[in-house]
Amino acid sequence: MEFKNQDIKNTYDKFNEDTNSLPLKELTAKYLGRNSLVKELLAKIKNIPDDQKKEYGQQANELSRYIEEKLEQISNTPIFQGTKEYIDPTAPFDINQNNSSEVYPKGLEGTKNPLTQEMDRVLDIFKQMGFDIIESRQLDDDYHMFETLNIPKGHPARDIWDTFWTEEGLIPPAHTSTMQNRVMKTAGQPPVRCVIPGMCYRNEATDASHEHTLFQIEGVYVDKNISVGDMLGTIKTYLEAFFQTKLEIKVQPAYFPFTEPDMEFVISCPFCKKTGCKVCKYSGWMELMGCGEINPFVLREAGIDPEVYSGFAWGFGLDRLVMVKNGIQDVRRFRSGDLNFLKQF
Ligand code: PHE
Repeated sequence: MEFKNQDIKNTYDKFNEDTNSLPLKELTAKYLGRNSLVKELLAKIKNIPDDQKKEYGQQANELSRYIEEKLEQISNTPIFQGTKEYIDPTAPFDINQNNSSEVYPKGLEGTKNPLTQEMDRVLDIFKQMGFDIIESRQLDDDYHMFETLNIPKGHPARDIWDTFWTEEGLIPPAHTSTMQNRVMKTAGQPPVRCVIPGMCYRNEATDASHEHTLFQIEGVYVDKNISVGDMLGTIKTYLEAFFQTKLEIKVQPAYFPFTEPDMEFVISCPFCKKTGCKVCKYSGWMELMGCGEINPFVLREAGIDPEVYSGFAWGFGLDRLVMVKNGIQDVRRFRSGDLNFLKQF
């Protein structure tokens, strides 16, 4: 763009420079707002000699239009909505530059992974039910992963949750139960009402229903007089909100060193209402998670007196739940990076 008038030219140059550093809101105020530089330019027309007034006015308006268009373009670029603080270092080309709308064609923006979308929904439900949310960790120690959960060295249950160890003796946790002791200690004394989402790792030969990396969501509830009935009611309430339908429930025996009694939580198939379908493998029922009353050993290890308090815990895999909900056949697709799959959500 060519501007004869030096003031207009300076404003044009300054604007282009500012688009690299100022957030959209400030740019708009500085260049188009009530006391903006463009308004100032337009006001200066009274000092321009009569024979140049027309050209000056046209050029100032041209600049104003240019700025409007540019700001419109910027505001349509997802990364620029809000502030310019967001930087996406994984973008295929420099989306962080303000000319990104030219190099980053519309429709190519990413979408939230279905697991992330569902995780948001699940946590919203638990927040409404009054739970605190504390995130798990991706590397933990032997004490939290095993010892606090009543799985001492040499216990056969170690094999189920053994993944691999770093040279420093740390382990990528195989379940979010690794956080149970921490959330109880953090709360100090009960009540403890906490939901713990986190990434977990398994030593798995992967197939359509097994993946080495998965999200789990743990629940820990401790207070006076907490019974198995409270646990069943809480988990049922959550699952009915998640599947948006009434469910029948039952429990099956299971074994976990950190709960007593231990159970597998089973629901009537939310899709076929027990008439039998592909999702429930024509059984009418689905096993969804391990749960149980927290073992007194685990409470004591967290400094909570099991004579006074009791509680329950559960742990379920988000990936499986999302597969069931959306009829996804192969769990590995979530982390495949296959855009055709991911864009469906
Ligand atoms: N951590 C168990 C698993 O990964 C699930 C569980 C959590 C069971 C809490 C009971 C209580 O299989």
